[in-house]
Amino acid sequence: MMDSFEFNKIAGAVLSVLLFVMGLGIFSSAIFHAQQPKTPGYDLPSAEVAATAAPAAVAIVPVAQILASADPAKGAGATKAACGACHNFEQGSGSKAGPTLYGIVNRPIASAAGFAYSSSLQEKAKTDKEWSFEALNAFILNPKGYASNTKMAYGGEKNDGRRGDILAYLRSLASSPAPLPAK
Ligand code: HEC
Repeated sequence: MMDSFEFNKIAGAVLSVLLFVMGLGIFSSAIFHAQQPKTPGYDLPSAEVAATAAPAAVAIVPVAQILASADPAKGAGATKAACGACHNFEQGSGSKAGPTLYGIVNRPIASAAGFAYSSSLQEKAKTDKEWSFEALNAFILNPKGYASNTKMAYGGEKNDGRRGDILAYLRSLASSPAPLPAK
């Protein structure tokens, strides 16, 4: 037989265990309370971060500096290899896939008779007018960067030394080569 004192002891023990477990729950949720975001979902990197992560603009070496150490003889081979499939170089030569490059330095942009130029290059003719060394340098570095929809299917020569040699060779394709840019 259980007397009432013993019953109270057992009831008290059960109660205190329950209280302890409840207390533990409240206590631990206070410690491990997960931060609820204001708006549900994942945090995406903000636009600000994406903007600062963009690569810095590459400094372009002035064409005069590139030409100063260029070699037209080396450029002859490089130009024929890189451009010869689409361009002629001799005086009086006509167009292939691209217009003749004889006399290209300081020739008006998009001016070879009978050649169907892209609208991009025709637009460039209005602003830049002629194939200055600067314009040629920019176009051969990155054709699509210079004239976005050019139909010249050539990726560009990124190496300053090799591009300089090509420019020096193009300069030689004239009865009297254009003076080198001063600076
Ligand atoms: C796959 C053929 C192809 C290759 C390779 C190519 N070109 Fe062209 N090039 C063209 C075409 C096509 C055009 C006309 C572009 C247009 O109308 O947008 C052109 C236009 C040009 C022009 C403008 C001519 C003008 O009358 O305004 C220059 C300068 C030129 N190319 C230089 C070069 C040089 C230098 C190389 C080699 C480093 C080269 N191209 C490689 C096809 C080519």
